[in-house]
Amino acid sequence: MRLTYLVLLGSALAARPFLSEPDTGIEDVLGDTPNGTLANLTQLVGLPDFQWAARRYLPPANYTYYINGVAGEWSARNNLEVYYRYTWRPRQLVDITRIPDTLQTTFLGYNFSVPFYISPCAKAFDGNKDGELGLVKGAAKNDVLYISSSYSSLTVEEIFGAAEQNQTMFRQIYLNGNITYDEALIRRVEKAGAKALIWTVDSNAGSNRQRADRYGVGSQSLFSDKAQLFTWDYYEKLRSLTQLPIALKGIQSVQTIREAAEHKVPAVIVSNHGGRSLDGAPSPLEVLLEIHEESPELVNQIDIWADGGVRYGGDILKLLALGAKGVGIGRPFMFGNMYGTDGVDRVIQILKKELITDAGNVGIPTLQDISPDYVSAVTYPLTPAPPPAQLLVQLVSK
Ligand code: GLV
Repeated sequence: MRLTYLVLLGSALAARPFLSEPDTGIEDVLGDTPNGTLANLTQLVGLPDFQWAARRYLPPANYTYYINGVAGEWSARNNLEVYYRYTWRPRQLVDITRIPDTLQTTFLGYNFSVPFYISPCAKAFDGNKDGELGLVKGAAKNDVLYISSSYSSLTVEEIFGAAEQNQTMFRQIYLNGNITYDEALIRRVEKAGAKALIWTVDSNAGSNRQRADRYGVGSQSLFSDKAQLFTWDYYEKLRSLTQLPIALKGIQSVQTIREAAEHKVPAVIVSNHGGRSLDGAPSPLEVLLEIHEESPELVNQIDIWADGGVRYGGDILKLLALGAKGVGIGRPFMFGNMYGTDGVDRVIQILKKELITDAGNVGIPTLQDISPDYVSAVTYPLTPAPPPAQLLVQLVSK
């Protein structure tokens, strides 16, 4: 009896994988790919495969920069896992033929082909000698929004200079707190051709990244000694400086979204910075659930986008179901960009296909019909939480 408990307990605890690379057999098919070479792109069938390819191809410091999270990386893991604690409530016998024609959306008034976009991520040179070019071109080819990072490898002029005619891109910014400096930055970004500014506000105090620190590739986030100035007053000051819309990225509570709506912010991005800023910050799905429970009217008052842990079309769909208007994907696009435009294109094609398939199996007539009704309110813990020591003693002594 005692042994049975221990065996069961042992396998329950052992069966808790870190979900960034779930085992779907890639090792069997591509396991012979020598370290330091890129796996065959056409054999990558899902976004986690791109991380598998990156782990083998990139120098460890570069790979670590991309994957690192803050502290114990609990929020980074939760971002991935949370989607599977909330199951679908699918409906059958529904006409789903129109779904593929209903993916288009608008972000801040600009048209795009899909409701997902490329999130700002720094340092594309770590994955590709051409820097962000593959992201610009892959986005253009598919009419997908690309928001480039303040810490891009290429300059803002190089990135926007590589845009196709009629391609709309936004620019993420960190600010300094010195208004003269910040105004100069905004002018430069305006001149380069960005159509919106996305101000990241979730890491004003910096972040403690243990995995990254081991390789000296820690936080890219600018910790300005004037960060204490970053309040709603500063937001209003910025707004008086530019005609460009200024969206806020890194929002993590219903309260701040409410305040953003009061300040007429055009859009907020619910995000915990890919789990890279504050460990214990909620995943986007959890924040959206809170909005749904506490203040569902907010989704009609302000555009809410969300990012964090998205690896499947179904993840995108769940965030849309809970009120997000747009969904950002970061790391998988940086890994796609190792292959340049073709890799970015492949990530987009995979997501698009999965989004359409999953929407069909959830049983909605068009993408616009997705709603919270399709997501189960019941949460399913992925594995039993480790039992408290007391219980363990009881089990063992039986
Ligand atoms: C930059 O924003 C980073 O998270 O490293």
